[in-house]
Amino acid sequence: MRLLGLSGSLRVGSHNRKLLEVAASTLPDGVVMDVYSGLGDIPPYLEDGDAPEPVLALREAIGAADAVLIATPEYNGSIPGVLKNALDWASRPFPNNALRAKPVAVIGASTGVFGAVWAQAELRKVLGLIGADVIDTELPVALADDAFTEDGSLADPGLTEALADLVGQLVRAAGEVVGTPR
Ligand SMILES: Cc1cc2nc3c(=O)[nH]c(=O)nc-3n(C[C@H](O)[C@H](O)[C@H](O)COP(=O)(O)O)c2cc1C
Repeated sequence: MRLLGLSGSLRVGSHNRKLLEVAASTLPDGVVMDVYSGLGDIPPYLEDGDAPEPVLALREAIGAADAVLIATPEYNGSIPGVLKNALDWASRPFPNNALRAKPVAVIGASTGVFGAVWAQAELRKVLGLIGADVIDTELPVALADDAFTEDGSLADPGLTEALADLVGQLVRAAGEVVGTPR
């Protein structure tokens, strides 16, 4: 089984990218996660003409994955533009887009005290409108500058457990889709 990880931050040293790496370390045997590295190549959404190559690559990566895990920061109380733009592209053609019925889970880290809860809530709303099968659990990692240890794990074992639990829910949802006769 293959999961696709998307980070809503392009920043070198991103806490959300680190969070995806911690999530990858909790995967059960037989499940792998590729973290997508091309979000920064996606141009602003434009309905005129054909979708450009980086968009086709994103749609293909989503389509090839059994499930998607998105780690988002919060920018001004909402989803970072880079991520929202990529999802707008991924939502077309609607309704038969790459995310339709795809199991998706949302996690998020921010340096504030709430752990990107608004961005996560909005992201789940957007994914639901796109037609994804959204896991209804969130994972807020607050005060992210102090949340990770030097070796990249989460300092709070309770958070690591909650993350492993959420990833387990995503893997089970993906297993149900994989096991569905087509
Ligand atoms: C434009 C901008 C807006 C931000 N707005 C918020 C916010 O509304 N709430 C919050 O908790 N943090 C906010 N932050 C701080 C981010 O949580 C912090 O930069 C975080 O580290 C970004 O995630 P990353 O480490 O994955 O890049 C903002 C940061 C930027 C650059």
